[in-house]
Amino acid sequence: MTHLLHRSIHASLPVAVRGEGIHLFDATGKAYIDASGGAAVSCLGHAHPDVLAALHAQLDRIAYAHTGFFTTEVAEELADRLVDDAPEGLDHVYLVSGGSEAVEAALKMARQYFVEKGEPQRRHIIARRQSYHGNTLGALATGGNEWRRAQFKPLLIETHHIDPCYAYRLQMPDESDEAYAARAAGELEAKILKLGADQVIAFVAETVVGATAGAVPPVADYLKRIRAICDKYGVLLILDEVMCGMGRTGTLHACEQDGVSPDIVTIAKGLGGGYQPVGAVLLSKRIFDAFALGSGFFQHGHTYMGHPMAAAAGLAVQTILKRDGLLGNVRAMGNHLETCLVERLGNHRHVGDIRGRGLFRGVELVKDRATKKPFDAGLKLNARIKKEAMTRGLMVYPMGGTIDGQNGDHVLLAPPFIVGKSDVEAIVERLADAIEAAIASV
Ligand SMILES: Cc1ncc(COP(=O)(O)O)c(C=O)c1O
Repeated sequence: MTHLLHRSIHASLPVAVRGEGIHLFDATGKAYIDASGGAAVSCLGHAHPDVLAALHAQLDRIAYAHTGFFTTEVAEELADRLVDDAPEGLDHVYLVSGGSEAVEAALKMARQYFVEKGEPQRRHIIARRQSYHGNTLGALATGGNEWRRAQFKPLLIETHHIDPCYAYRLQMPDESDEAYAARAAGELEAKILKLGADQVIAFVAETVVGATAGAVPPVADYLKRIRAICDKYGVLLILDEVMCGMGRTGTLHACEQDGVSPDIVTIAKGLGGGYQPVGAVLLSKRIFDAFALGSGFFQHGHTYMGHPMAAAAGLAVQTILKRDGLLGNVRAMGNHLETCLVERLGNHRHVGDIRGRGLFRGVELVKDRATKKPFDAGLKLNARIKKEAMTRGLMVYPMGGTIDGQNGDHVLLAPPFIVGKSDVEAIVERLADAIEAAIASV
């Protein structure tokens, strides 16, 4: 009997009682390797002593002060740190409590920017199909996952979607990466021209698509082309790095690897590593200046924004990430993870694609490799894999609807940045066993 409205009412969940390093333990004492960081959150693993110490110290100093009355040293310090390491041109930070809040703030920021600039007619947001930007109404409307949107459609603001850059499914057999990147980015230009170049506020995209498609990185110079198209029409580029940012792909910001700076970037999960709920929006100087020289404020706000405990978690996690050189481990262990996945599953007749960057990897399952036909969605292969993995003491993040919100299955891997070689090997072994058991059960 529970009085909690759980995510799934009929599921029976183990009770998590303790975490240590890459493991979580349930009330029966069973250990699980957290190979998905929950949902790409726990970048330092669990119970990191230095994060715990920083949180205890912050609690002893000050737990809460409303941002309408005060600023705090810890929030200022986190903002300084984030700006020091930000993509070029981003020089202010808006602190919130999670990814959806970050996306909501980014959308309103982009709209207010054009109001301040005297272009209030701009009203359209363009994003991509099969993206996920959060579950609050603005973020849900921006996301392009049909299954998540369907029943809430009457409540969603008008948004527009183009195809994602999803090479495995959408690149043509004889098409080069460059030609595909040009074609995929060209969809944005066509959409902007259709809506009216002076009517569009922003284009929103996950640099590496996470939950809905399973670690899908952009191809060739796709993002550079997107940046150029946005610049050509004065449209803002918002990159949602809530899942793929803060080191997950091997660079602090995923877009560094694409040589692109957005006007706004949203971050969350790996920012505080799960030690506190925290997210942030990093915005460019020109957006900040438009506010500063205009109305003088951003018309938004939440009770818990800039929360000192959340800021302390973000600051501690980011300090440790740098101090311990963990981005190097993300790259090295990311390569090892890719090698192990390819060795163990690369020739599997039901594995269609292995992809991703750093410690952010996706495995897409197919019924038939030659035709890329997915398994029947009714079989819920992804849920079976999750169950088989949990039985084997492994947390991974499988999801269905990979292709179009209904069809397709993938498994997302996002282990903590502290994993070692033998951990990676254990993850791949258990995952491969779970996949095989799940397929055998359908
Ligand atoms: C890319 C992206 N944006 C936004 C969100 C929403 O974040 P939250 O669940 O913290 O609201 C998520 C969560 O998975 C995400 O992956």
